[in-house]
Amino acid sequence: MHPIMGTALRTVLLTATLFAGNSNATTASEVEQLIREAAATLDKASSAGGEWRNSRKLLKKARAAAKEGNLNQAVLLASEAKREGELAYTQAKAEYAKIPTLKTGAVGTAGDTGTLAFGAITAKYQATTGPDAARAGKELAFDGRKGNCLACHMIGNGVGPGNLGPPLLAMKARFPSKAALWAQIWEPRLRSPESIMPPFGRHRILSDAEISKIVEYLWSL
Ligand code: HEC
Repeated sequence: MHPIMGTALRTVLLTATLFAGNSNATTASEVEQLIREAAATLDKASSAGGEWRNSRKLLKKARAAAKEGNLNQAVLLASEAKREGELAYTQAKAEYAKIPTLKTGAVGTAGDTGTLAFGAITAKYQATTGPDAARAGKELAFDGRKGNCLACHMIGNGVGPGNLGPPLLAMKARFPSKAALWAQIWEPRLRSPESIMPPFGRHRILSDAEISKIVEYLWSL
C-alpha cells in the first residue's frame, strides 16, 4: 500500500544489518518466537483483507536467515514483517470503518422490497420475477466479465467452481427474503464486515437490476 515507504525502510533495515554483524545476542528460540508472531500478524492482516504484497517474502527471508544461524538478520527481517502486518491490519480496519452502515429500510426482515441507504448512496431492491429474469440472472452470475460468482462459489451445474465462499444452494432457507439476499450481493460487508466478496452493488460492478435478476436465479436453487 505504501511500496515506496516500505522499500525505503527495508533499505535502512538491511543497511543496518550490515553494521549489526552477527553477534548472536538473541537465542534461536527467541527468533523463532518472533517469526511466529510476525506470521500471526500477517495472517490477521490478511483475514482483515489488508496484507501487503511483499511482507511474506520478508518472513521467508527471516526464516532462511534463522536457519543459517544469522539471527540478527532474522530478527530485523521478522520485526519488519511484523510491523508491516500490524500497519496493514490497522489500515484495513480504517478502510472498512468508512463503509457506511445500513441506515434505513431494514432490508430483509420480510417482504420483497427494501432500500439500502449508505450516506449519499441509496439502492433499491425491486423484485424481478419470472423464468426470464432467472435465466438472465444465471447468465450474469456465470459470466466471467459480470458476476463471475463461480470464481468463489459452487452454483448449480456451473463448471469449475472455486471454494472461497460457501456453495450457493437452499437460499430460501438461508435468507429471510429476496431483498436480504440482494443486500448480501450488493454489499457483503453488511453481514460479514471482513468479507472478501466484492461489493457488487456498491462498487457498481453490477447494476441494481442485474443483482435483482441474479437473486431471482439463486432463489430458485
Ligand atoms: C472473491 C470471491 C467471491 C466472489 C467472486 C463472490 N463471492 Fe459470494 N461469498 C464469498 C465469501 C468468502 C462468502 C462467505 C461470507 C462472506 O464473506 O460474506 C460469500 C458469501 C455469499 C453469499 C452468502 C451465502 C450464505 O449462505 O451465507 C451469497 C448469497 C453470495 N456469496 C453470492 C454471491 C454471488 C451471487 C456472487 C456473484 C455475483 C458472488 N457471491 C461472488 C466470496 C465470493
